[in-house]
Amino acid sequence: MLVNGKQVLDAAKAGRYGVPAPDYLDLDSARVFVRTAEEMGKPVILSYPQLLDTAFPLEEAAAVGKLLAERVKTPVVLHLDHGEDFEFLRRSIDLGFTSVMMDASMDTFEENVRKTKEVVAYAHSKGATVEAEIGHVGHGENLTEIQENESVYTTVEEAKRFAELTGVDSLAVSIGTVHGVYKDLATPQLNFQRLAEIAAAVPAPLVLHGGSGTGDDNLARCCREGICKVNIFTDFLTGAMDRIHANSPKSWPAMKECADAAMAEVLRHYYSVFGTK
Ligand code: 13P
Repeated sequence: MLVNGKQVLDAAKAGRYGVPAPDYLDLDSARVFVRTAEEMGKPVILSYPQLLDTAFPLEEAAAVGKLLAERVKTPVVLHLDHGEDFEFLRRSIDLGFTSVMMDASMDTFEENVRKTKEVVAYAHSKGATVEAEIGHVGHGENLTEIQENESVYTTVEEAKRFAELTGVDSLAVSIGTVHGVYKDLATPQLNFQRLAEIAAAVPAPLVLHGGSGTGDDNLARCCREGICKVNIFTDFLTGAMDRIHANSPKSWPAMKECADAAMAEVLRHYYSVFGTK
């Protein structure tokens, strides 16, 4: 069942659990995520990053996401991850995305507010929900080709003002995670104190980017203490490749089967870590 972000994230906030937001990069990964969610009777935030537009164009991703979401009973939020500009987000909403992220976290506070408000006005007029980011989640060791990679911690004051000024439906915060692989594969130290302060000051559900490699204990605690949505990408790819290397499949279909099974297992694992209901 295709739904927007509100009912899924409000329920997660009330129930103090997290909902996984796996990024899909093709039909196979999207199908695995939706099937696994349906089998487990749990919601999923099926996410497509704007960055993939060249390899997997928005129109195809929207068609795939909508078709899969409408075929199941479990709630599926079709989410546009890391949207970079209004025009792309407008197109994605018109194509059926029910939730979008405006990522202007590298802009000034004022510019981030302006861009986010523009998206909120359009999205809300179409029944879609909006996530934005304040502070900045940087990039890990394997993503050095992305020019900047410095995280900027979210401050309580900025988070509060940003949420009030924009009327955003959910807010991504930076408390010590990075996108991709952590330096030396070390488990990060997260700032739980900051998370608690932001959660107390901001009524909107909070989002954690860079879930991969963050450690089960860290993620479980985040979900109990205010994070309602956790974005994960790298761990699905690593899980699939590890399984392929271990099983050495002899054919293309067998290789895809290996990847699908491994991705489903990663998602089942995170449902249990996040306590998703
Ligand atoms: P990871 O690849 O670190 O899981 O990050 C995913 C993400 O935050 C997508 O928005």
